[in-house]
Amino acid sequence: MRTQVAIVGSGPAGLLLGQLLHKAGIDNVIVDRASKAHILGRVRAGVLEDGMARQLTAVGAGGRMAAEALVHDGVWLAFMGRRFRLDLKAHTGKSVLIYGQTEVTHDLMDARERAGLMTIYSAENVRPHDFDGESPSVTYDTDGIEKRIDCAFIAGCDGQHGVCRKSLPEGATTVFERVYPFGWLGLLADVPPVSEELVYANHDRGFALCSMRSRARSRYYIQCRTDERVEDWSDDAFWDELRRRLPPDAAESVTTGPSFEKSIAPLRSFVIEPVRFGRLFLAGDAGHIVPPTGAKGLNLAASDVHYLAEAFGEYYADGSEEGLRAYSEKALGRAWKAVRFSWWMTNLLHRFPDAAPFERRMQETELAYLSQSERAAAAMAENYVGLPY
Ligand code: FAD
Ligand code: PHB
Repeated sequence: MRTQVAIVGSGPAGLLLGQLLHKAGIDNVIVDRASKAHILGRVRAGVLEDGMARQLTAVGAGGRMAAEALVHDGVWLAFMGRRFRLDLKAHTGKSVLIYGQTEVTHDLMDARERAGLMTIYSAENVRPHDFDGESPSVTYDTDGIEKRIDCAFIAGCDGQHGVCRKSLPEGATTVFERVYPFGWLGLLADVPPVSEELVYANHDRGFALCSMRSRARSRYYIQCRTDERVEDWSDDAFWDELRRRLPPDAAESVTTGPSFEKSIAPLRSFVIEPVRFGRLFLAGDAGHIVPPTGAKGLNLAASDVHYLAEAFGEYYADGSEEGLRAYSEKALGRAWKAVRFSWWMTNLLHRFPDAAPFERRMQETELAYLSQSERAAAAMAENYVGLPY
């Protein structure tokens, strides 16, 4: 098979890139090792910046989002038994959308099918080849038979455990990493959310987050140890622990019910530099991971592929390699700022096992400062709604 851009990975980064390229008249094939059902079964992010929303609309995949997403103009920050509202709209003129990653993926897959573009799911042993030369390719196996996609470029959109980053030659890249000493235990239940807007809570027992997918579906998270097992958490234990970590007025109005998904995600920050090697370009989680605290992972995938599609567009329109050369610096320039913001929010809101009383006071003081200073609040709001691109 032959195409212009072979995309490895059918998550939000790969799917959105595929649609942006298609719109620019650039041929592409996506290959993913997982099945379509598996990809659609993953419960992940829920907050979209308007940059992401604009791109979904631009590629014709924004119809359901426009009808179903909830527009949030603010978020709540809770500490020491009280809470204050960060007014995103007042500080930035922008809002965020509540619309699940699962739905984004669904809508992009539908748009891809409508456009008649090729996606290979359940591909085994996917490997990128010869991207340091002029004729790269991607091979994979189906039913024990090896297939090859010849291409001009490879886009590595295969997430944090993908094969593309691992294929880069040793010594060609630098890795920056921070592993946090805790994870998030998440629960999804068809109960009305505790609050109209998200609540991020700093508590002595650990962080908690009240989020949602709709007015009838809640997504809650509590900080947990990295050695804990989901099986050891009954729904009742989860609800009890969540309520303990929320301010009393919020705790009282939690509606409980049976969960239909529970999972633990470890938290880490990770960046690889550069995100281009020859004709291989990394985008999304393949190049950088952020802890979910700032709700940035999915949104960074969208800005990466915006820059990448623009660069491929220029190349195919007038042969210019300028955009391709600038890609790594542009994408990482924005990504690093989200890495910083997610790290800052993680430090502000979590209970670190080795934190001295001094550090707890610093967290409380920073939260008090945010609640009182318009300028501090504006800086947080500007990052939360997403820096421009
Ligand atoms: P992915 O969505 O990971 O997509 C990568 C795709 O590549 C997958 O379909 C995978 O099957 C495929 N793939 C992997 N390896 C190979 C291979 N070898 N060959 C072929 N295909 C391959 N972000 C938030 O903002 N909020 C959250 O609450 C949140 N929760 C998360 C929970 C978990 C468990 C994880 C893992 C991430 C979470 N994130 C969250 C981050 C967010 O989901 C990611 O940033 C986002 O999915 C990145 O999109 P992506 O397309 O780059 O990667
Ligand atoms: C979610 O709804 O899953 C969610 C919301 C905000 C975050 C992280 C996750 O910061």
